[in-house]
Order: sequence, then C-alpha cells, then structure tokens
Amino acid sequence: MIQGNSDLPHSLSLLFQYLASITKSEGRAGGDRVSAALERHAASEIELHRLENPFAEILAPSLSLVGGDLGDYLRLAAPYIHWYGSDLSENRIPKSVADRMPMCELIGPDGMFFEADVRVGLWQQTAHLTYGPRRHAAEETFFILSGEAEWWNEDDGHQRLGAGRQVFHRSNVLHTTITAESPLFAIWRWSGDVGFQTYELTKYKLD
Ligand SMILES: [Fe+2]
Repeated sequence: MIQGNSDLPHSLSLLFQYLASITKSEGRAGGDRVSAALERHAASEIELHRLENPFAEILAPSLSLVGGDLGDYLRLAAPYIHWYGSDLSENRIPKSVADRMPMCELIGPDGMFFEADVRVGLWQQTAHLTYGPRRHAAEETFFILSGEAEWWNEDDGHQRLGAGRQVFHRSNVLHTTITAESPLFAIWRWSGDVGFQTYELTKYKLD
C-alpha cells in the first residue's frame, strides 16, 4: 500500500502493474523477469515523495501523447519519479547529450527500488538527436509509448518504429536511435549482465 499521499493513492503501484503487463508481453525470459520484479514492487509498500524534476517541461509533450490508463498513471506518477539525464554514471555519455535524454530507473541496481539483476525504467530521446552506435552486455528491449525514431542495429538494419512497437537488442549488438521532428518516449528494460561497465558509446550527433 502506498503511504504519504492520500490524494494520489497507488499511482506508482498502478504504473508498475501496467508496465509489468507490457514487459510480460515481450515473451522473452528477460521480459518475464522484469515483469515479475515490477509485480513484486507494485505489491510492496511504497512511500511516495514529490521530487524535483528538472526535465518536467521536456517530458510533458511525450507524456501527454500516451493515451488510456497508462497515460493517466504516467502523468499521476511522474512527479514522484526520480528523473535525470542519461549519464549512466561515470560520465559515459557527454552531458550535452545526456541532458537531452531524460530517464529514470524505476527498478534495478541503481533504481528507485532495488533489484540486483534487472533494470527497468522510462526514457525520452528528444528531437533531432542521433544516439549511437552504442552497445552493452545487457540484452535490452524498448517498448515505445509515444513518438517515433529511426532504429538501427547490426542484426535488423534500419527500421522506423513508433508507439506500440517493441525493439529488441541482443547482448553486445551495436545499435543507434535517430530522432527527427518528434521526441521518442519508451519503457526500457535490461537483463543478463546489467552492469554499466560494458556500456560503450561510439558516436553521437546533435542537429
Ligand atoms: Fe541500449
């Protein structure tokens, strides 16, 4: 049961439950493990605290485009989520790029709620940004919630994918995300070797 804010009961729990159903739909063992972690934390006691969010304005257009119950849960829960630039610790991504990619880690080794072997969160890539090629040991799936991007990876080549689509990256595959006019907003999840030590960004470009 969520404590501390009777005006917004359960918003994070409801969000976690919804994200659990989406990550479960992937049909891979890694997605199942992430889904189980989300279910576990949704059922645990969560104390909500409203947090400073320097990315609130940047995130707002992407959040407003997510429809249905998920959109409602996201907008209710967003002020209680710890958002930051995608620096992945140890300055692996230049700040000028990281601050154009607001993210959160809801559950994981560095998450708002601890799990040792999976990571799951939300991520926005703002417009006119090429992010990659990059790679990491963790296997990764994005579940696109709003916007679109051109996606490239060594296995599948180029694909333009938007809301409702999933993008899978096997361990260590090089991958790039290119936004044009619209920002991209997605759930991300990692499984396998989820350490940041193997993360490598080979290139980036701001338009
Ligand atoms: Fe990745």
